[in-house]
Amino acid sequence: MNWLLLLLLALGLFLAAADSNYDYYRLPTALRPQKYYLRILTHLENRKEFRFSGTVKILIEALENTNNITLHSSTLAIDESQTTLRQISGGEKKDNCVASTEVDINHEFYILKTCQQLLAGNIYELSVSFSAELQDQLKGYYRSSYVDPAHNKTRWISITQFEPTSARLAFPCFDEPGYKAPFVITLGHHRKFTALSNMPVDRTSSHDTLPDYIWTEFQESLPMSTYLVVYSVNNFIHKLSSLNNKPLFRTWARPNAIDQCDFASEFGPKVLKYYEQLFGIGFPLPKMDQMAIPDFDARGAMENWGLVTYRESSLLYSPEYTTLMGKKLIANTMAHELAHQWFGNLVTMKWWNDIWLNEGFATYVSSLCIENIHPEWHSVELDFHSYLLTFFKIDCLESSHPVSRPVELASQIFESFDEISYEKGSLVLRMMHLFLGEESFRSGLKSYLEKYSYKNADRDDLWDSLTQAAHKNFILPKDYEIKDIMDSWIVQTGYPIVHVTRDYSARTASFSQQRYLLNTNLSKTDRSECWWIPLSFTTQEEKDFNNTAPKAWMECSQTGKSLPKTLEDLPGPDQWVIFNTRLSSPYKVNYDARNWELLIATLNSDDFESIHVVNRAQLLSDVLYFAWTGEQGYDTALKVIGYLKRERELLPWRSVLDQLNIVSSLIQPTSNYGTFKRFISKLITPIYEHLDGINYTDTTSIRNQDELHLKLILASWACPFQVSDCAAQSLLYFSNWRSAANPDENNPVPLAARDTVYCTAIRRGSDEDWDFLWTRYLRSNVAAEKQTILRSLSCTQEVWLVQRYIERIFEGKGDIRKPDSVSTFKSIASSEVGFLLAKEYFMENIELISKFYHPQPETMSEILLTLSSQIYTRKDYNKFKDFVANSKDYLKNMDQAISQALETILTNVQWMSQKQTLFTRAIEKFL
Ligand code: BES
Ligand code: ZN
Repeated sequence: MNWLLLLLLALGLFLAAADSNYDYYRLPTALRPQKYYLRILTHLENRKEFRFSGTVKILIEALENTNNITLHSSTLAIDESQTTLRQISGGEKKDNCVASTEVDINHEFYILKTCQQLLAGNIYELSVSFSAELQDQLKGYYRSSYVDPAHNKTRWISITQFEPTSARLAFPCFDEPGYKAPFVITLGHHRKFTALSNMPVDRTSSHDTLPDYIWTEFQESLPMSTYLVVYSVNNFIHKLSSLNNKPLFRTWARPNAIDQCDFASEFGPKVLKYYEQLFGIGFPLPKMDQMAIPDFDARGAMENWGLVTYRESSLLYSPEYTTLMGKKLIANTMAHELAHQWFGNLVTMKWWNDIWLNEGFATYVSSLCIENIHPEWHSVELDFHSYLLTFFKIDCLESSHPVSRPVELASQIFESFDEISYEKGSLVLRMMHLFLGEESFRSGLKSYLEKYSYKNADRDDLWDSLTQAAHKNFILPKDYEIKDIMDSWIVQTGYPIVHVTRDYSARTASFSQQRYLLNTNLSKTDRSECWWIPLSFTTQEEKDFNNTAPKAWMECSQTGKSLPKTLEDLPGPDQWVIFNTRLSSPYKVNYDARNWELLIATLNSDDFESIHVVNRAQLLSDVLYFAWTGEQGYDTALKVIGYLKRERELLPWRSVLDQLNIVSSLIQPTSNYGTFKRFISKLITPIYEHLDGINYTDTTSIRNQDELHLKLILASWACPFQVSDCAAQSLLYFSNWRSAANPDENNPVPLAARDTVYCTAIRRGSDEDWDFLWTRYLRSNVAAEKQTILRSLSCTQEVWLVQRYIERIFEGKGDIRKPDSVSTFKSIASSEVGFLLAKEYFMENIELISKFYHPQPETMSEILLTLSSQIYTRKDYNKFKDFVANSKDYLKNMDQAISQALETILTNVQWMSQKQTLFTRAIEKFL
């Protein structure tokens, strides 16, 4: 290229940057915010006028000369008469002002053209005043409410939810994670309220003009991204943690729920302490608040720095109403959000394409944290197993996507907070932890966090720190880079199936890898994916499942091709081998027929426990998938499953039932369902009875928490499949409750059994039973109990009750809060009778439903996926496809969910036509 062309190109780029037709989703890079002073006045007293108004003063450093200041701003009314711009340092100070402004709705930009050029190296102060309605859309700065039972009055609070791109709804700002700056926040509010924010209060003062109003000013924050800013005006009360007083740790809730804060307030400081040790870096803020918000986004919690917000059900614990599962969910959510205080808040990803760094990491280390505080919960094993189940299910779709992928639009950013970022992200980090070992993992992390504190980083920065640590500790060969290994899992979609082919006389095994795809019509040749795969294994003689370190690697060439791999010195023909000990990496393994036979023999012998429980779960899950996609037959799969009559552990059962659940909903409307029911009954009766069904008397001995968990899962199968006394026992519990003198105070149903008991009673029961439970829902003060009831009400088989329930969700009366609507609709759509009605309702009322979720119609993605999992005929596939095509306007920003839903249906259609009969024949033999 000659120099003239280069010059023209450079000039072109320069003009483009300075041009008012700037059409790029990222902010221009000429400016950088140095500090924000944010003052917000909130009106919460008059329900006819919920408003906030404010002024943001931003100190801005010019990095390049520029004629405009581009900020993010959306739905804010800006009072331009108040806008000021002045130079405050650098060079000779000149007057400056704003000549004109422009709005770019598409990119949510507010562009101020300056009177004079802003010069590189100078600092400017821009002040902008704005106001907006304090709406109830659960994002930006919004309002939430609860009923104060003492006075039967609705009380209002205000709260923010900014991640990922909603700070711009609350104040004009540089709303990208890379623009970190300290914030000085001041909140104006009626003196009867408390104001909370990221930092402790610095001072309060009276409002000049508004009587009874005060200003609460908070200390200056550490440099942070806009999405982590938080503030709230409320009349909540708090509980102080007793464990230690550094940092000051408080848990906030509406007054009537303060007695549900004990667990969270004791657990929180323990979590912080654990992370201080794990990361080797102290918690940098002087205080930590956590707050239960009555109306919170469809998700569970938000990690705002110094003030974490939660849904009530993810923070509040009641010994009488919260099950052990509920308690674990709370612990997990807290551990997740507090992990972000380091991973995400202290060190933040440069851009949203690496959101998995935040989310995958928090998901992974929260299990480590809980394992440390509650070892009896077995969190690490249980969590990663559950993530694997989800991950194997979705990442085998062609329409899945890589962990790290380019994102531009706000909707794409939002879409990235999915199972791939969370579950797959955490699984690949666990794989890395296991092949690196404790020392390299910890020291690599520490140096990464130290190096990038108060700054931004991308995954390459993390890989560098870890590679250095690994090489220093001689954990990886010098020519191995973490980046090569990890990027093969992060940048490629899907996961591999490793084929192990043994040569029994030469005592060798050769390996090949291939992406595992559920859709069997897709060609398997011509695919070019290659993963760096750690090969850990053990043999029948050795049975060393503790060693998860790779004994060899499947490598990829420079050009990304899988290199051939052979292992020697394997055992002889009478011994099995198992690869991927304890499922340390997220891939599937298929063996030759002989190895499977050897495994089946051990599984079906008294010696089955010599195979580690996680690998028993692996074998079950893999073989069932392989039967689905044809790598193995259902005969082999059923031979593996046959050993379950001896199995007493949670993970194998959870693997199998998770798979059978999919089959169940497909086969349920067919004539083969009778056989399937007998099969399930035969399969689970022994273990159900061994665990004493749904009895929870004092004499029931529950040996450990896993057993309780297994008991719950089995009950949820036993009752609908009429196994043993499950249904009868449930009905008895329920009728005892119905005849209790004061059912809101006295509930004789054992806490752990409530899910199943309520559901069964509603499935078998009358209108009165339904209304009885609905009334309990309305009167309950505990979010977890409310959720259990909402789920159970969907179990009814009465068409009109289902219909009324669906209408209640969307009628807007507010009995079912919007954030609970999706899960409620989903549970209706997953039930037998509910499915058809829900599908019908959804397709016919898509306009109404999309309005209900406005302005976040993407909330409906989950509904699409739930419906698709039960559609299985070609005709219905076409109908659904037409529906999606005709409803484009209502299904905006849901491209990912739509293609996943359509592909799921296609694979269902395939299974029904190709595998249903084979499956039924195989289970008939089992009976
Ligand atoms: N950072 C997220 C919250 C979030 C999610 C904000 C999506 C914006 C968009 C938070 O840390 C989180 O991941 N919360 C989880 C709970 C957690 C226990 C997995 C959630 O809310 O689902
Ligand atoms: Zn998170």
